[in-house]
Amino acid sequence: MTMGQEGAAKGTSRNGVVRTYQRYAPVYDGMFGAVLEPGRRALAQAASVLCNGSRLSLLEIGVGTGLTLPLYPPSFEITGIDVSDGMLAKARERARRMPDRDIELHLMDGENLTFPDHSFDCVALPYVLSVTPEPARLVAEVRRVCRPGGVVFVLNHFNGNRFWWALERMVRPLADRVGFRSDFDLAEHVLRHDWTVTAVREVNFLGLSKLVTIRNA
Ligand SMILES: C[S@@+](CC[C@H](N)C(=O)[O-])C[C@H]1O[C@@H](n2cnc3c(N)ncnc32)[C@H](O)[C@@H]1O
Repeated sequence: MTMGQEGAAKGTSRNGVVRTYQRYAPVYDGMFGAVLEPGRRALAQAASVLCNGSRLSLLEIGVGTGLTLPLYPPSFEITGIDVSDGMLAKARERARRMPDRDIELHLMDGENLTFPDHSFDCVALPYVLSVTPEPARLVAEVRRVCRPGGVVFVLNHFNGNRFWWALERMVRPLADRVGFRSDFDLAEHVLRHDWTVTAVREVNFLGLSKLVTIRNA
């Protein structure tokens, strides 16, 4: 199976992602803002502990409407990217309301980043790994642009939680329509890579999502 076929076979396509999130953009914060907020807060808190007041560069892939931006420590130099210009327009509005913060936003595909190798101290993936068409390709790009010894945060829903299995199964065939894969495996998409997972923590209501902290060895 080629790289291009992987996403199509498992649920999302590039056009599908762009189309779906263009549609979500006006209503995304109402639908997914509060319900996924504890996870975003946990991510930002973990990043804050890591920086301990120092100035670190952080790339957020799939920045969406920018819901995590206000939660990061003010000392961070943040770059956010997204493939949906509708979502990004909302993030730009949000960033404009924080003129004292160092935030850059770009329309860019996380699977084809234009940044040089080792550009960032941290890379954050809030709710994007199960959305992107080819997760392995996204991970390869994350590892390239994150400096050696840098930290990667993956925040996502993964399968195997007894409270959510029925919903996972119902939504599974609709991945390209709803804009994410509900049945997404932690071992297959995160643990199998040659990097060092330092923490896995359940977040959100009834452990809907996990925050995974990784050292880019
Ligand atoms: C579920 S939303 C998450 C948005 C935000 N991070 C949050 O916390 O709510 C997924 C976002 O990832 C974006 N996305 C999906 N695949 C992407 C890719 N390969 N590169 C950049 N952005 C991507 C979508 O356009 C969408 O805005």
